[in-house]
Amino acid sequence: MRIAIFSDAHGNLIALKSVLEKIKKEGSIDQIFCAGDLIGGGSSVSEMVETCQKFDVQCLLGNYEQLLLDYDTYHVRVCPEEAKTTSTLVHWMRQQTNKNVENWLKRLPMNINITPTPGSTLTICHASPLDCWIGGSLNIDDGQMDELYGSWNSKWIAFGHAHGSFVTTYKDKVLVNVSSVSQLRDSSSYATYCIFSYQNNRWSINIKKAEFDLYESFKNIREANIPEEILWRAQPFY
Ligand SMILES: [Fe+2]
Repeated sequence: MRIAIFSDAHGNLIALKSVLEKIKKEGSIDQIFCAGDLIGGGSSVSEMVETCQKFDVQCLLGNYEQLLLDYDTYHVRVCPEEAKTTSTLVHWMRQQTNKNVENWLKRLPMNINITPTPGSTLTICHASPLDCWIGGSLNIDDGQMDELYGSWNSKWIAFGHAHGSFVTTYKDKVLVNVSSVSQLRDSSSYATYCIFSYQNNRWSINIKKAEFDLYESFKNIREANIPEEILWRAQPFY
């Protein structure tokens, strides 16, 4: 079994297409997953969703999808210094969203389990299996690690959210951050994703990078009529 997982495309349609085309060229991929935050700046929500549908990507819920669907509940989880620009961004995203897309977003799961053989379950989620906001990072103390991942009943957990790849272990678990398609924290101009392969009763992982056309990406953002004050949040290097 081979699956591709990417996360945090954040409305960068050019980078998303580049990743999906590269995954397609890999051949023999059984399923493609997006671990949330497909939207949140850049291209329109509808274009991002339609591209995933075209490539048959199974998407999961991220914190930006939660904000778009239920801003009244989730805005309190945005850090205070980003509250104003997040509100403007969500308002702009709502204008790009039609009823069909909204209904599709409402059906996204918070986590998905893949079990090739008993005891080998890989859970895919955005930050942690039951929370789209907390987790995904190495800056978590043991108490929080226990709360977020410790009691979850799978050995492997893959997520995004922190925009940087790492593999670590916690107790009997392997935690993998698949990095991000856009807004990578190391400012590299690559879109990053991960291939998980299951063979001979074990998972192996391969972090991959896809080049994308930066000029096209910036052009796309400029043409999207994003309010001036949040343009910086829509960039590939935010
Ligand atoms: Fe996120």
